[in-house]
This record gives sequence, C-alpha cells and structure tokens, in this order.
Amino acid sequence: MTEKELMKEYASKNPGSRALWGSASDVIPGGITANVKFFAPFPLFMEKAHGACIYDADGHEYIDYVLSYGPLILGHGRREIICEMDRYISEHGTMLYGAPHAGESAFAQLLKRYYPSLEEIRYTNSGTEATLLAIRTAFAFTGKYKIAKFEGHYHGGYNEVLVSINPDVRKAGDARTPVGLRESAGISDEQMKNTVILPFNDLDAVTEILTANKDEIAGVILEPMFGGTIPATKEFMSGIRSLTEKLGILLIMDEVKTGFRVGMTGAQGYYGIRPDLTTLGKIIGAGLPVGVLGGRRDIMELAAPNGSDILDAGNRGASAAEILYHSGTYNGHPMILAMGKKTIDILEDELEPLISRTEYLKKELHRIFASHGVKILTPGAGAMFNICITEQEEILTYRDLMKCDFDLRKKLDYALLLNGIYNKPGNRFNLSTAHDRSIIDHTLEAFEKAWKRI
Ligand SMILES: Cc1ncc(COP(=O)(O)O)c(C=O)c1O
Repeated sequence: MTEKELMKEYASKNPGSRALWGSASDVIPGGITANVKFFAPFPLFMEKAHGACIYDADGHEYIDYVLSYGPLILGHGRREIICEMDRYISEHGTMLYGAPHAGESAFAQLLKRYYPSLEEIRYTNSGTEATLLAIRTAFAFTGKYKIAKFEGHYHGGYNEVLVSINPDVRKAGDARTPVGLRESAGISDEQMKNTVILPFNDLDAVTEILTANKDEIAGVILEPMFGGTIPATKEFMSGIRSLTEKLGILLIMDEVKTGFRVGMTGAQGYYGIRPDLTTLGKIIGAGLPVGVLGGRRDIMELAAPNGSDILDAGNRGASAAEILYHSGTYNGHPMILAMGKKTIDILEDELEPLISRTEYLKKELHRIFASHGVKILTPGAGAMFNICITEQEEILTYRDLMKCDFDLRKKLDYALLLNGIYNKPGNRFNLSTAHDRSIIDHTLEAFEKAWKRI
C-alpha cells in the first residue's frame, strides 16, 4: 500500500477523531493545544488509558509508545501513583500552599542522591521553564548574553532555543559551521544573533566556534542524547566538559527526556560528567507538570532573594537587579512532588527490568526488519529508542539523521496505527513498566502485520 492509501484507511477508520478535531479547530488554532500533537491528516483524540494501553474516540485500543512524550514511565494510571495523590490530599487537606513546605527540600535531597551535580535546585512547572531559567541563570552568572545550542536539539518553545531544531540542511550551511535557522515566527533578527549553533559530536568544530565566541557565550545547552536517543560519544562529552570549563562557559545538560529514563542517574551518570547546570522534567512529575533547574551552589545562590521581593511594594532590600528573579504560583507543587517521589521509589526496583525488555524489543525489531531486507539502527539508551532506517553504520549528528529513510518509516508508522500501535509517525519509542513481555510480543506481531501491509 502507498502512504496515501494508508492515510485514507486511517481517516475512514477514525470518524470520531476527525469530528472532534473539526470542532476543536473552531476554537483552538489547528485544533491542537501543542503543535507536537498534530499529525496528518488529523490526530487521534484520546478518551481513556490504562497501563500500556490507550483508547481513542472511536473505541480503538492501542499499545502506547508516546506515553505523553515520556513522563508516563509507570504507564497510565499506575495504582500507587493515584493512591499517592489521594493520600496527599486526604492527609494534608489541600493540594497547594503557596508557601514553603518540607517536601520541597526532601525531594531536592532525593534528586541529589541520583544527580550529585544538583547541589541546589529550583522547581518550575515544565521542562521549557526549566531550560528558560537555566539560560537566564547562565546570563546572570557570567554577564554574557549569548547561548550556544546544538543543531537538531530541542529545549522547549521560546525564542533563544527555537533555532535549528529541524532545519532544512540545504539552507543550514556547512556541517562544521551550521547557520542558525528560525523554527518559529516571532523571533527578531537581533535575537537570532544571540543563539549560536554548534555541530553535535564534532569536538574540533565546536572548539573552534566556542573559542572564537568565548567572550560572548554564557552557556552551552545540550541534549546529552540528541532527540533523547542519539548519544554523544564519551570522548565528545568529556571534551565539551573540559572545553567549557577552560573557556569560562557554563555547561547546561538538559535531561528533561533522559532523566530517570536512560538510567536512574540519567545521562550524567552514564557519561560520568558533572555539568554546571542540569534541567529535569517529565518523569519526576509522574504525569503532572513539573521541571527542575539545579546545579552548582555558587550559581544557584544567585536566586536567593536576600530580603528583596519585586512584588513587595516599598521593599528595598538588596538591589533587585543583582538577584536572579525566579517565581511561580505552582513552583514546588506539594502533591506533584509526592507523586514524583513515589515514581522514583518504584523505578528503583523496576527500571532495570524495563531496560532489559526494551533491549529485547530492539533486538527483535532488528530481526524483523532484516527479514524484510531493511537495515535499521535503533539508537537510544534505557527505556527509549528510535528506529532509523539507514545503511549508515552509526548516526552521530543531525545531518546523519537526515540521511535516514523517513518516508518508509512514516509509512510503516501509519500501518502500525492501523494495527494497534500508537506512536506519532516518525517519533521515538518510549516504554513504561506496564510494557510487559506480552505487550512487547503483541507489538512485534503488529510490526509483522504492518510490514505485510506495506
Ligand atoms: C530535552 C527537552 N528539553 C525541554 C523540553 C520541554 O519540556 P516541556 O514540554 O515540559 O516544556 C523537552 C520536551 O520534550 C525536551 O525533550
């Protein structure tokens, strides 16, 4: 079947989602509340979910490999997490104080046990907010106002980082000196100049760019595993650590995807690297909104108010301009932190077996694709991987990734949707502890069926 025929079948099988998308489009731009949620011809609208499975508006059951783009590592509606939410509210009588509470420092200590680089932390309400605060913190600490990011890497939706996430390589310049390209309307030329684009896994090229711009660049932010799945080489990671240290540039490791998913100690444990600043999100909120920025005490202390509060009329404590202002109505949400703690406790026992099952799934996928004469790579560590259809021996950079066969991958993904596997076409695969051996065996059968269709 062609992709067009598959999409036609998809559309005819999902009239309920199509109708909901139509009515949503009257009141919501594009009918979706986050641009990532769209895929053609219209996305599936979901109604309920349980464990590894999710159910759409037309009553179809799917094995879920999106898992809300990562947070749901315990699957949907894990009993202990729901009970923890109930327990918190019944024991404490509320879900929010708007005042400090003991859970904030207790959870910070817990995170520090796994991520020793988090000497001090602040809570945010999303990964986006965490990286935004990380960049402003780097500006405040160094007195420099440019940020360097890598081609292809995603850190959320705001001007400094909406540059060269999925650029057209024909317009993106030389691989060693990539040109920054806008990924959104609303970014001025002036702002574009403040984001420097680096090539991933090319230490020589990065050394040249950073050295030439060291007096202007405050920090380098990176996904230690690009797209969550394509790892930095160990040499690249240790090289960038010593280079940034030498040049007086802060190293910001964005572990929003990798934290507690590639292993309990995240990518920094995997590489044995201590970044200056780290961002976390997704898994630590158990499916509710959360983010964390943490790192070196001397940097994080910039946020201590020292008696100053810009929202306290007439208060003239320390000069506000010397403090790193950070606030938020929901920061350190007590119920979410309690649920996050419960998630980490469960993962302590269940992450390793999940990683073994993920390895088994990857191994079997290689076998299935090979039986159809197709070579794939399945980059990714821990409970997350991608399927890259390619003859290349390895993928190190965005440019390598762009050489993969996305047309065949998407065709397969539509065929998978028609066979009960939910993933956004082209997206990485996330697994949960609810993805047991029988779920994985069902998945493998669905792949065989999808192959037959295409
Ligand atoms: C590496 C990385 N950083 C930041 C973000 C933004 O996080 P959020 O969607 O919670 O705002 C994401 C989201 O996918 C991410 O993958």
